[in-house]
This record gives sequence, C-alpha cells and structure tokens, in this order.
Amino acid sequence: MKKIIFWIVIVFLAIQFIPVNRENKPVDRKDNFVDIYKTPGNIKTILKNACYDCHSNETVYPQYSYIAPISWAVKDHINEGREYLNFSEWGRYNEDLKQNAVQKTISTVRDLQMPLPSYVSYHPKANLTTEQRKVLQDYFFNLQ
Ligand code: HEC
Repeated sequence: MKKIIFWIVIVFLAIQFIPVNRENKPVDRKDNFVDIYKTPGNIKTILKNACYDCHSNETVYPQYSYIAPISWAVKDHINEGREYLNFSEWGRYNEDLKQNAVQKTISTVRDLQMPLPSYVSYHPKANLTTEQRKVLQDYFFNLQ
C-alpha cells in the first residue's frame, strides 16, 4: 500500500514538469471582434467574463490550471473552444464562418450550453443572468 502511494506521489510530481503552453498570441485590433463592431461596453464585459477564457487570445488562467492533470483538461477546452470560435481572430473568418458563429452563439447562449456549465461553477461572473443572456442574444441577432 505504501509503495502504491509513493508511486502515485512520484507520478503526480513528475507530471508537473510536463510543459503546458499558456502563452496568449498577440491580439491584432483589426481582427478583434469588439474592435471591428465597436461593441458597447456592457456586451464587451459579458464576453470577457463569460467567453474570453476559451474563445479569445486573452485567456486568463486560473490558479488551479497550473496543476497537472487539471491543467491539461483546461488547455484542451481552450484549444477546442478557440478552434470553434476565436473572437480575437474574427476578422480572418469569411462571411459564412461569421454568420455560422453568430447563429451558434445565439443558440448556445439561449440553450444554456455556453458558457460551459463546468466552467460556470468555478467562475461566478460567467453565471449569466437571464437578462444578460437576452442582451447578448439581441446583440448577435443584429449582426445577422
Ligand atoms: C470553459 C471554456 C468555454 C467557455 C467559457 C465558453 N466556451 Fe464556447 N465552446 C467551448 C468548447 C470546448 C467548444 C467546442 C465543443 C462544444 O461545442 O462543446 C465551444 C463551442 C462554442 C461554439 C460553437 C458551437 C458549435 O456547435 O459550433 C460557440 C458559438 C460558442 N462556444 C460560444 C460561446 C460563448 C458565446 C461563450 C460565452 C457566453 C462561450 N462559448 C464560453 C468552450 C467554452
């Protein structure tokens, strides 16, 4: 038993040394969603608080994201989130991609799929009120 615990501890310590890339790419204002549309402050705040950690190059890494293997799960979500939608690289999308992202934003926010529920439990600011969800949907509705 002691041996097993010993090895669990060793493996846990060892995996802390596996590097995780937490570097944010620089944001180019000409491609940045909120700069392109001159998004009003209240919407910007909602996006920053609820979406940016996974859908922008302005990710703020929480303290727990520095501990492996949690760090790997967090980075996976961020990589996948950015792949689907990256507000910092909006300007590089073609019209089809933009429209698709706008529609998907409306539906995922409406259906409580976004922000990811697992994220909301650790980020109270991302726990959007019904009013905030509505404001966000209305804003994207007007981009259609
Ligand atoms: C904790 C990370 C995280 C946060 C925060 C987050 N998302 Fe996502 N998002 C993901 C991941 C991962 C995916 C891809 C897999 C999936 O659909 O679950 C995704 C997918 C999406 C998609 C594409 C869905 C599709 O089917 O094409 C949209 C649109 C989206 N998110 C919008 C948002 C919006 C808007 C917010 C903020 C209100 C937000 N997300 C917050 C991680 C996140």
